[in-house]
Amino acid sequence: MHRPASTPEQPQEPPALRAETLQHTPQGQPYSARYGDVYASRSGAAGQARAVFLQGCGLLERPAAWCGLRQFVVLEAGFGLGTNFLATWRAWRDDPQRPHRLHYVGIELHPLSAPDLLRECADPQLAELARHLAAQWPAALPGLHPVSLDGGSVQLLLAFGDIGQLLPRLRLGADAVYLDGFAPARNPRMWSREALLALTGLCRPGARLATYSVARPVRDALDEAGWEWRKLPGYAGKAQRLQARLRAPGASSRARSPRGAPGSALVIGAGLAGAACAQALAGRGWQVRVLDDNGAAGATSALPAGLAHLRPAALDERLARLSRSGLDWLRLALPPQSAAALLCGDAVLMAAQQPRLAALHRHAQDWDARWLRLLEPAQAAAASGLADAPRAWWTAGSVVAAGALCREWLRAEGIELSAGRRVHAVRRDRASRMWQALDEQGALLAQAEVCVLACAAGGPQLLRASGLDAPGIPTLHLQAGRGFLVAADALGALRGLRAGVMSGCYALPLPAAAVAAAALDPERRWLFVGATYEHAGHPAWSQQQAWEHIGAGLRPWLGADPGAAGGWPAHPPRQGWSFRGERAGAADRLPLVGDWPAGRDDTDRGLYLSLGMGSRGLLLSALAAQCIASDIEGEPAPLEDDLLQAVHPLRAALRRRAAPAADATPRPGPAPASREPAPRDGGR
Ligand SMILES: Cc1cc2nc3c(=O)[nH]c(=O)nc-3n(C[C@H](O)[C@H](O)[C@H](O)COP(=O)(O)OP(=O)(O)OC[C@H]3O[C@@H](n4cnc5c(N)ncnc54)[C@H](O)[C@@H]3O)c2cc1C
Ligand SMILES: C[S@@+](CC[C@H](N)C(=O)[O-])C[C@H]1O[C@@H](n2cnc3c(N)ncnc32)[C@H](O)[C@@H]1O
Repeated sequence: MHRPASTPEQPQEPPALRAETLQHTPQGQPYSARYGDVYASRSGAAGQARAVFLQGCGLLERPAAWCGLRQFVVLEAGFGLGTNFLATWRAWRDDPQRPHRLHYVGIELHPLSAPDLLRECADPQLAELARHLAAQWPAALPGLHPVSLDGGSVQLLLAFGDIGQLLPRLRLGADAVYLDGFAPARNPRMWSREALLALTGLCRPGARLATYSVARPVRDALDEAGWEWRKLPGYAGKAQRLQARLRAPGASSRARSPRGAPGSALVIGAGLAGAACAQALAGRGWQVRVLDDNGAAGATSALPAGLAHLRPAALDERLARLSRSGLDWLRLALPPQSAAALLCGDAVLMAAQQPRLAALHRHAQDWDARWLRLLEPAQAAAASGLADAPRAWWTAGSVVAAGALCREWLRAEGIELSAGRRVHAVRRDRASRMWQALDEQGALLAQAEVCVLACAAGGPQLLRASGLDAPGIPTLHLQAGRGFLVAADALGALRGLRAGVMSGCYALPLPAAAVAAAALDPERRWLFVGATYEHAGHPAWSQQQAWEHIGAGLRPWLGADPGAAGGWPAHPPRQGWSFRGERAGAADRLPLVGDWPAGRDDTDRGLYLSLGMGSRGLLLSALAAQCIASDIEGEPAPLEDDLLQAVHPLRAALRRRAAPAADATPRPGPAPASREPAPRDGGR
């Protein structure tokens, strides 16, 4: 690699994530002034990718190291311009014996831009692939960014952040590792003993590793971590390169094991949470049986339309991070043929006056404008389609036809829906190793290897009836809510609405699929306006009460004179109808997603929960499904460990285990609902 005269100082603290400006050597090679090194061999990045990394991990041999496998996972330290990824993807495409799914996790602290990636991709064999990658290239924000390619068979997870901070938070099992930091002397964090040990803990038995560096400290750390390495002739005149094989995973291995073949799954609940799980598993070849005492989208998920959008807050706030991932996975889970009918717009506008949103200015500069930006009234008017709009935050998001999406997910091949089946209990049959769903008389309704409880408030009850209750599961509180479907021309002030708008309440243009599902006149434009928060158990609000509450909540969007003709009518219009449903959520507003400890040992595994979506079922269902499906299949997790723990059904116990001394006080139960400010639809 190119060696400059002086070594730049290495920061002690992990450096902050920053989008990188690419520089070039006088000879025109991509170069980092920050580290004083070039991105790849002078003799060509694509050639180096093949000769050092693919060759070193056995991917150019025939049969290749991935031959006959269902999934193969590559972990790369230093994603840079993505040349190694593109070359791996190319090799996967060219190999008739390729694995069904290629997963590639690329760690990168200084993301370059999509135009840089395109411009620097000199190899004609990789150019078309680079265009696909650039089209989905994420903003330079910390965390895990999924990119789905070749119809989902190639899954790239871009992990933006510092290697030392990320490795302990990733959950995956790697079959191959590419070590491609800048030279160890200039970029020691990428090659530190700690990093190499942490990385080894994510590797499966027999994993292979390749790197261009044969530096002594790297070899020593690999030795210590249990790798058997050898030096081979280097690429294009470089004396040597290193390839290695993991002897046996160490005691500290946390590598996820791959599942050999798809199996059968039971999903209890045919709302958004259950439908998302069913389609995620069916998409991996599983046979899925969904049981529901109603039918597809028969309860709260009958919602005609709702919002899925970014939670605007500090960049590293938990819900802000979850909402970024939630949106990413929702978009990837949309059936491509009907996405246009199911969604409306790519932004949600939030009136900027509320105190919480006013405080956002402090954090907003950390965000990429593709996710969050402030609009002046004229810009907000243009974006919303309203003549008279307030100053507003533009946040990434969409209006989604909730019920139609839920039903569409359940129509995927491999899913069988049984409506009108109330599950009273589930149990694991030890002899057959099957999860069985039983009715009230104890009769068998269905059985499968894996079972997901996605039945909202019915979940904790089902666990209790099954004798699978465990202390520490957060209580799910119920809140009822109402919204109205109305013709846009009946609401003068909102007649031209083109995007979802929020203040205390929301107004949403209805996506085409929701208009069709509700059998409304497709020649007219329709809006969904909502929503109320009513304590379950109290008498329901009257329609008039709800209507007035929503009108007051939408005040900033109703223009200077909402009382003007048709601005906000005094009574709900006669055409259209109202929707009422119940949200079930935990007091901390996080869903309950993850595996559930069903028995004494590992053989009792296979029970999962996807509950407590509260007022964010649209935003979180696809992400929750991905967390569960990836765990079942042994794929890389879509979230970092701290977020997986934050949403885990037994999070309180996990927190206590992590910090026993700090939490010696009696176990904190969930706060009573009445003391919590009500969570809001659309992600507040
Ligand atoms: C007025 C209103 C507005 C909303 N707006 C938004 C919004 O803008 N954005 C957003 O993201 N969210 C919104 N929500 C919330 C959203 O609708 C929910 O988060 C989501 O529908 C929950 O989906 P779910 O699958 O968890 O639950 P559900 O849709 O309730 O599905 C659970 C299913 O499990 C079944 N079931 C339960 N127990 C059993 C059993 N023992 N056996 C068999 N089946 C069982 C039920 O019949 C039901 O079909 C809104 C909600 C309301 C009420
Ligand atoms: C040699 S380049 C990688 C080239 C890349 N593999 C390719 O195919 O184009 C090294 C990369 O490591 C990244 N990097 C440096 N320090 C890092 C750190 N602490 N954590 C994560 N990535 C880091 C750099 O930003 C740079 O993109």
